[in-house]
Amino acid sequence: MACASTAHSRRQHFRAGHTYLDGSPVEQAQRVLERLDAFLGETDSGGRMVSLDRVAIVAVVGNDDGAHHVGAELIQGLNDIGFSIPASGMTYWVGEAMHKTDYKDLPSGSGKTDQATKTTAANAARLARILADRPYPIRGVRAMSVVIDPPIDFPPSHGRPLPLHGPPCPTPRGTLSGAVLSALRQSPGSLGPMPPVAVDALSDDDLHLALYCCYELHYRGLAGVDPAWEWDPALLGFRAGLEGALLQRLRDEIGPSVCLADVGSALDELIAAASGPSLSTFLLESGSLGQLKEFCVHRSAYQLKEADPHTFAIPRLWGEAKAAMVEIQYDEYGSGRAASMHSTLFADTMTTLGLDSTYGAYLDKLPGPTLATVNLASMFGLHRRWRAAMVGHLAVFEMTSIVPMERYSRALARLGIGPKGRRFYDVHVAADARHGAIARDRMVAGLIETEPDLGQDLLFGAAAVLLVEKRFARHLLDAWSTGSSSLLLAGMDLSECAPHHDQNQPNESPSCSTSGLGPRDSGL
Ligand SMILES: [Fe+2]
Ligand SMILES: [Fe+2]
Repeated sequence: MACASTAHSRRQHFRAGHTYLDGSPVEQAQRVLERLDAFLGETDSGGRMVSLDRVAIVAVVGNDDGAHHVGAELIQGLNDIGFSIPASGMTYWVGEAMHKTDYKDLPSGSGKTDQATKTTAANAARLARILADRPYPIRGVRAMSVVIDPPIDFPPSHGRPLPLHGPPCPTPRGTLSGAVLSALRQSPGSLGPMPPVAVDALSDDDLHLALYCCYELHYRGLAGVDPAWEWDPALLGFRAGLEGALLQRLRDEIGPSVCLADVGSALDELIAAASGPSLSTFLLESGSLGQLKEFCVHRSAYQLKEADPHTFAIPRLWGEAKAAMVEIQYDEYGSGRAASMHSTLFADTMTTLGLDSTYGAYLDKLPGPTLATVNLASMFGLHRRWRAAMVGHLAVFEMTSIVPMERYSRALARLGIGPKGRRFYDVHVAADARHGAIARDRMVAGLIETEPDLGQDLLFGAAAVLLVEKRFARHLLDAWSTGSSSLLLAGMDLSECAPHHDQNQPNESPSCSTSGLGPRDSGL
């Protein structure tokens, strides 16, 4: 409780030896507030302000209606420090105007003031019990601390309406995505403990949806989700747990890498040794239009944000490696023309196929193996320590795409899709002939020249993308081999998505050659 008295005249002021003006707290009250300011720099073991769950009330003695002004000052000051103020959080004595009798000098108290004081005390006790049972979430503490020290404004969303743009929050699939998504619907700081990860972190639907949602906060965000969640410490910790499980599974599958002197040659060998089912060959030879649409729905998770994950790595590189990556990314972003961005071209393919090209439109339909391909790139891109893995990841993309991209284009042509719908793939056939060389001979070589100790990380990234792409291709082909949809929620009736024939394009006869399989056969 803070107590203060007021005075209504300079005469009283001098007599009492106080240094206040009319209607201001006495010096002692100001001193108490200044002492309490020390709480601003103190936190408990959970990083919370020590005053956060504590309740304060204000009692003003005196005989002037300046009590309201005094109360306003003190309540604001106490609240800034972290105290909570209950309803009717101030009690005061207002004597007869311009008279000199203080409350403490009344012979028998004041009925109204006594009742108000009891109400204030009861409300304070009630609020204190509530806070003891249900303390504030951490966010409130951080926001207060950051505003004051250092003097910068913290969450930009304070007081602003939540964003409506961005893909809608998907439906949870289990305990992990359920924990993340239920928290994201609330204010930052409300994420509870992480459920145990008892699933296959390489492909589990629930884990990868949870991880995807964590990462999406760094891209376009999710509709209705506070942008401040992007850097919420508890969510970052949760995400680290998911990433740790994924990395462990990758290490288990890939095994220890051998750092060879010539990383470029080691990369060539890794790509040449890769094996797995060929999605592009299947779709070219015998894929139906429905299966080709399913393939595009899967790929929309990455392709509609194409190049963005790798761009995160650019500030982490320098010299030739940076310049080479920027040259590749410049083309991926359409050389400065939005209509030519590869993400735009893929959207055109989707539209031509009668699919919804809205960013994130199919998130609820995408299984774990699909989301894993995007999450891998996001994980490497968002961690500086994985910059070399990101270089290896991009190098594999660029060095292995020409053959499958050409097959996908021919598969579309076989099914009557004209040039506009095939342009995404045709552009890659042409561009990646150049990108592959830039990636291997400049980006990879440049990185290893400047940071030779990162060879193992680079090869790990290359092996990781080959592994998740292999599992992705296997997932689709296994589903299709049983006549099932490869999408979640019992698939979709893609037959209702009629292709838009952009031109009177004659169907082309498929070529069923199976030679020249590319390891990145699922083809980005
Ligand atoms: Fe591309
Ligand atoms: Fe490329």
